[in-house]
Amino acid sequence: MSFSRATLVVASILAITVSARPAEKRWGGWGGSWSGGSHHWWNSAPAPSSGDFGKRWGLQAGSCDMAAAVQNMNLAAADPPLPPPHPSLSLFQVVVGRGTQNYTCDLSNSTAVPIPVGALATLFDISCVAATAKELLPALSIVALDLPVPDSDDTDSPIMQDMSGHHYFLDDTTPFFNMDTELHQYGMGALQKANASDAPNDAYAGPGGTGNGAVQWLKLDVKPAAQDSWKQVYRLDTAGGVPPETCEEATPTIEVPYAAVYWLFK
Ligand SMILES: *[C@@H]1O[C@H](CO)[C@@H](O)[C@H](O)[C@H]1NC(C)=O
Ligand SMILES: *[C@@H]1O[C@H](CO)[C@@H](O)[C@H](O)[C@H]1NC(C)=O
Ligand SMILES: *[C@@H]1O[C@H](CO)[C@@H](O)[C@H](O)[C@H]1NC(C)=O
Repeated sequence: MSFSRATLVVASILAITVSARPAEKRWGGWGGSWSGGSHHWWNSAPAPSSGDFGKRWGLQAGSCDMAAAVQNMNLAAADPPLPPPHPSLSLFQVVVGRGTQNYTCDLSNSTAVPIPVGALATLFDISCVAATAKELLPALSIVALDLPVPDSDDTDSPIMQDMSGHHYFLDDTTPFFNMDTELHQYGMGALQKANASDAPNDAYAGPGGTGNGAVQWLKLDVKPAAQDSWKQVYRLDTAGGVPPETCEEATPTIEVPYAAVYWLFK
């Protein structure tokens, strides 16, 4: 993977953003200076030709080539590789999630370790990147982790136009993806862990590159008998999210910042 190139592209796009808006470290990229804020770097091809600047790159689900995107799933980078999606399913959307992995600690037990109790993340559509520039996907998790979580209440923020929904847990073992918002009704659903593999050794360990490591890559399957939208969801290209090894010096609840790329199949 030409990771250094991907990093460079992202870095230069961010540099454009930063120079255009020096006072703000923000998620939106092309926005503001081109086409009234309808472009965002993660949903644009890395090097759009100048003739394309006036045109929207396709932020709505389904407007990117999802058949091309599904070919760009890098399942083999996990150890061991995750099983492929069921052939009867279609890729609906690819999103970058940014939020926290939560853990609890039993402080009365000197040898206790942090126990996972779920996660909370905001999801942003990056389907066009997945379809056109797969080498950028790991870099997008890194960039997302290094940016603050966007404020969902800030409806004026251009990035909120790309917000696909929210990821949270119904109980400690039931991840939920709610992609029905005021802007769209993409669907929602409860899943359960089917397969887990360690993230690649060079995965980003935490904000600024320092932390306890990147959470596992996962394949999630729909809960048995559920009529929910999502039949399978993959969590790939993780960055951060791993807790300390022990509960020493920990608080009863631990929130570890993370980002990941989720692939949602219907
Ligand atoms: C303390 O934590 C360790 C590690 O998780 C566990 O094996 C042990 O059962 C715990 N002890 C008590 C009393 O909960
Ligand atoms: C995780 O932490 C966030 C931030 O405090 C909180 O809002 C959320 O409810 C927590 N989620 C879980 C599953 O504990
Ligand atoms: C994935 O999980 C399923 C059941 O959840 C299991 O049958 C299968 O063997 C696992 N595949 C791999 C490669 O671990």
